[in-house]
Amino acid sequence: MGGDAARGWEGDDRMTVLVTGGAGYIGLHTVAELMAHGEAVVVVDDLSTGHRLPEPFAQVPFYPVDIRDESAVASVIERHDVDAVVHFAARSLVGESVQDPLLYYERNVGATQHLLRVMIRTGVRRLVFSSTAAVYGHPDRTPIREDDPTAPVNPYGETKLAIERMIRWCGEAHGLSAISLRYFNAAGAHPDLPIGEDHRPETHLVPIILQVALGQREAITVYGDDYDTPDGTCIRDYIHVMDLASAHRLALNRLRTTDVRTEVYNLGTGRGHSVLEVVAAARRVTGHSIPVVMGPRRAGDPATLVASPERAQSVLGWAPAHTDLMSIVASAWRWHRSHPDGYEENLHSM
Ligand code: UFG
Repeated sequence: MGGDAARGWEGDDRMTVLVTGGAGYIGLHTVAELMAHGEAVVVVDDLSTGHRLPEPFAQVPFYPVDIRDESAVASVIERHDVDAVVHFAARSLVGESVQDPLLYYERNVGATQHLLRVMIRTGVRRLVFSSTAAVYGHPDRTPIREDDPTAPVNPYGETKLAIERMIRWCGEAHGLSAISLRYFNAAGAHPDLPIGEDHRPETHLVPIILQVALGQREAITVYGDDYDTPDGTCIRDYIHVMDLASAHRLALNRLRTTDVRTEVYNLGTGRGHSVLEVVAAARRVTGHSIPVVMGPRRAGDPATLVASPERAQSVLGWAPAHTDLMSIVASAWRWHRSHPDGYEENLHSM
């Protein structure tokens, strides 16, 4: 790729991206996006929640490594001339984090501490970090801007915020150049490749609704219809996973071309949809009646979470391509209908 000084760190012409957690849902879609734009990518993933890379990714160097193993990560960085890290590897279930907070401190904060140490030691200065809207807790206003107060209400959001702060301090102390991306509700699947959302157990709204359409569940239980929203159900900002992926690519470009210290961006469409609106969209997309059962509220759910994506649009030049709910649900449906059992191998190490 040549030693183009404009690409970043002076005298640094390494150009491989290390993707941690690249076997997970958002990680693998980002790997696909980076490769489609000519990036060399190497994946590390301990497969504790991810899936072995499917066939179209057979050429991607893959290491079944836990990022807490500093020497293993350092040798991957050195072998592949890594110049930047996109860091997804984490535990990411809100409910699980409430049940087992120490697991989240260990696997999110602790593991990232090891990763940062290796990056500093090996001279890798660029980092894109996978953060979350959960850092805002129950927001005071909507749409949420990046400078609004952060007040997580569960260990998952708390650990992601702790990592953002750890990254900021490392930026000041060690010259790390980093962008944290706060995702709202990821949904959808790759338009061409056989990859999509497959969590075990599944807790997310869109795949659960589509499992009803596939006849794998009787009904969708709506967690509360007494919220202060127009139809009483929670409002979320659903963002297509390929739009999240493109934001990572743009963030990486920014780190390579601009003198960034640490920055934070919301990733959402700026438009919210209630749980019942998502069900209605899925009924239209699938032609299935999708029965609904009203249930109690789920602990910790804010009534409304909608992003202001203005900063990502103006600074990163990010322009989400799939902004309407129907096309996001249709994209998820294409994957679920063609892969009713998710990733066939179903290989998990835990
Ligand atoms: N919901 C239901 N029934 C279900 C599943 C979900 O009614 O069976 C509702 C939830 O109560 C919520 C909405 O659908 O109102 C979306 O729920 P998800 O579980 O799909 O997503 P969350 O909004 O809870 O979680 C997402 C990310 C988390 C992140 C969180 C921030 O998946 O990583 O946003 O609050 F932490």
